[in-house]
Amino acid sequence: MSIYTPPRIDPSEITPEGLYLRRRELMTGAAALAAAALLPKAEANALPTFYKSKYSTADKANSYNEIISYNNFYEFGTDKGDPAEHAGSLHTNPWTVEVTGEVTTPKRFDIDALLKLAPLEERIYRHRCVEGWSMVIPWVGYSLSNLLKQVQPTSKAKYVEFTTLMAPEQFPGQRQAVLDWPYVEGLRIDEAMHPLAILVFGLYGKPLPNQNGAPIRLSVPWKYGFKSIKSIVKIRLVEQQPMTAWYKAAPNEYGFYSNVNPEVDHPRWSQATERRIGEFFKRKTLMFNGYGDEVAGMYKGMDLRRYF
Ligand code: MTE
Repeated sequence: MSIYTPPRIDPSEITPEGLYLRRRELMTGAAALAAAALLPKAEANALPTFYKSKYSTADKANSYNEIISYNNFYEFGTDKGDPAEHAGSLHTNPWTVEVTGEVTTPKRFDIDALLKLAPLEERIYRHRCVEGWSMVIPWVGYSLSNLLKQVQPTSKAKYVEFTTLMAPEQFPGQRQAVLDWPYVEGLRIDEAMHPLAILVFGLYGKPLPNQNGAPIRLSVPWKYGFKSIKSIVKIRLVEQQPMTAWYKAAPNEYGFYSNVNPEVDHPRWSQATERRIGEFFKRKTLMFNGYGDEVAGMYKGMDLRRYF
């Protein structure tokens, strides 16, 4: 079954930038209080202090409201508004993440321990969905390598597999056979250890809203958005390339690597351009989503058409 359909962003869904700015100016006093009542309730406490990261893009960030109300989290449904609408049914406290497999010291971490594991940074990242839309998102988190080093990967650890919580009673989407649940993603070990691959706990300085993958998710900004798995409960270091949920669903469409590449089209649509949410005109998609200087070296000598 084909899951992703080409982007259908109605121009009326797109608010011109000027209007956003004006809307922000208007969000004061009573208006801000009323709006705050509509914001998602996070079960987690406030985030510890965080620092500004040298890895942030200078691109203008999308608004909080855009980021929390238009996205994919198929566990809540396949429409872009479903995650925001149904996210209240997910319970993120208590929450643990198990790190096992080819490691010397397998461990289970609770979320408070994870929050204290390394200094948190605000990373403003470009985010390019495989469907052709993009956003700029101020995540709060730290490099995934901080966690992986804690469990001491063995020499057999060639890949890292990530798994989302399986809980059909909390995730209405898991009651339907849209994907072979639970959602699984994977990275090669050098990709996982790259400083740009981060574990995310917060958004715009606040705990991550459920619809964005609370309480802990990945962000891998040089890859299409579906690699950035949400609400992670299990991380396994493995010798063989993991079988991912999207690869299982359509191997000719969603390759294991899924690096953003404007030169390799999706079988059903072009990847040459993208629509930044909030902008009217399309912009050119950049190789590795603009992170080539940092990551291209990991793919030297690889045929990126074959390993798409
Ligand atoms: N993770 C899980 N568990 N389930 C999903 O459906 N969707 C992916 C990714 N992570 C998804 C997921 C896709 S296709 C995208 S584009 C991003 O989440 C979108 O969410 P964000 O805007 O919060 O990053």
